[in-house]
Amino acid sequence: MTMTTALTQDQLKTLVGQAALRYVVPGEILGVGTGSTVNKFIDALAGIKGQIPGAVSSSQASTQRLQALGIPVLDANEVQGISVYVDGADEIDGRGFMVKGGGAALTREKIVAALARRFVCIADVSKRVEVLGRFPLPVEVIPMAAAQLVRRFAALGGAAAVRLADGVPLVTDNGQHILDVRGLAIADPPGFEIEVSQWPGVVTVGVFARQKADVCLLATAAGVQTMEFAA
Ligand code: A5P
Repeated sequence: MTMTTALTQDQLKTLVGQAALRYVVPGEILGVGTGSTVNKFIDALAGIKGQIPGAVSSSQASTQRLQALGIPVLDANEVQGISVYVDGADEIDGRGFMVKGGGAALTREKIVAALARRFVCIADVSKRVEVLGRFPLPVEVIPMAAAQLVRRFAALGGAAAVRLADGVPLVTDNGQHILDVRGLAIADPPGFEIEVSQWPGVVTVGVFARQKADVCLLATAAGVQTMEFAA
């Protein structure tokens, strides 16, 4: 009799972090995202670190982990482009559109993604959705605009609240705050991203439509599935 044991979410993240190694281009600068799934990817990089001349990172947390492995981290301004950016997501739909920012690193993630020719999303199956919006949408905002932005989201049917850390507003790597917006169903991610990005005080909206995934490696109980998305 064959016994199968369900993998934990942590094990799924390990699996997909290792699977992403095949997208690393030896000898080229690598883009590295942020989050618990990416941490598994960084752990897996230890085995091939000699092939990686440097990385551009989307957060101070990932920078520290990369440097601990001995991988040099470059400023995004030092590179003209990178071939591959590997990052997680809070949600991903069937077209490669994503919600990101659960780790508050969305602005730097969008900047590094915009430098990359290919976005490889690594996620476990819990992140796959039909319509974006189940996960509270992170939006990085200039603090003085927070209240008016809460009202704007309310007009769209969303309930926005400033993200707290230890009882006070969380401050991002960029010195700004995060609004988390609940209750949205984002049927048109490209249109939504364009609209919200224009609201005064919005630094970055956590919908990644223009910087969508080109590939998603999705860890499931049956193994890692590869989803490829048209441009
Ligand atoms: C960080 O700001 C996020 O965009 C992460 O990529 C996202 O939250 C996924 O994180 P986990 O891999 O920890 O779920």
